[in-house]
Amino acid sequence: MYLILMGPPGAGKGTQADNIERKYWIPHISTGDMFRTAIRFGTELGLQAKVFLDAGHLVPDELTIGIVRARLAERDCAKGFLLDGFPRNVVQAQALEDILAAWNKKMDAVINIEVPDEVLVPRLSGRRTCSQCGATYHLLFNPPRQDCCCDLCSGALEQRIDDREETVAERLDDYGAQTRPLAEYYAQRGLLRTINGDQSLDKVFEDIVASLR
Ligand code: AP5
Ligand code: MG
Ligand code: ZN
Repeated sequence: MYLILMGPPGAGKGTQADNIERKYWIPHISTGDMFRTAIRFGTELGLQAKVFLDAGHLVPDELTIGIVRARLAERDCAKGFLLDGFPRNVVQAQALEDILAAWNKKMDAVINIEVPDEVLVPRLSGRRTCSQCGATYHLLFNPPRQDCCCDLCSGALEQRIDDREETVAERLDDYGAQTRPLAEYYAQRGLLRTINGDQSLDKVFEDIVASLR
């Protein structure tokens, strides 16, 4: 299965991607996670991407398309993958089509998680991420057993720099201007599955599974 997960910042893409990965055994590929790992390790890619992530703006297309192309060529993607946070504009969507066409493949579905803006801000401000394994929590909606550390690996929990209020506003603006129009793009191709993300974590996942049947 070749899947795309789209939705605004805080929609629950990362959270649901973990569930989808476990149920369907396809790798979860998050461009945001790839950039954050590169930043943590201080690689050339990390140095180039950091200013954009910190400001809440999209990383330039050539850089982003380049890392996705390389990642999709890896062996674990041969039988399927779940893209989270890519594509984010029409240029990236067309590049993805070209990459897959060269391998005689095409997307199966685009899961679009919709959540009203007023729900997103508290989700982002309460989010905590494990510094070791990347697991995502929310202080109110999906709390870890202890505030300080991860249930899975005891790693320290941290807040993302781009979850500050001013940066969240920039990310939501970029989403509205550049990424939301992709829903129409994929609807025209008959791929779009729209999911109400303003429900419990379990119900959102149930709806995603139903939409893929
Ligand atoms: P990225 O990492 O992709 O961030 P994002 O799209 O802003 O989305 P988030 O990760 O913030 O939210 P999410 O939907 O994954 O929500 P989550 O599951 O964590 O991108 C970051 C940056 O990288 C971009 O700004 C850009 O700079 C760069 N970048 C990445 N891809 C790029 C691209 N293709 N092109 C250019 N630049 C790119 O959930 C959020 C919180 O809510 C959690 O605490 C969770 O526990 C909670 N929650 C989830 N679901 C529910 C629910 N149903 N009810 C209650 N709480 C819930
Ligand atoms: Mg995410
Ligand atoms: Zn952890």
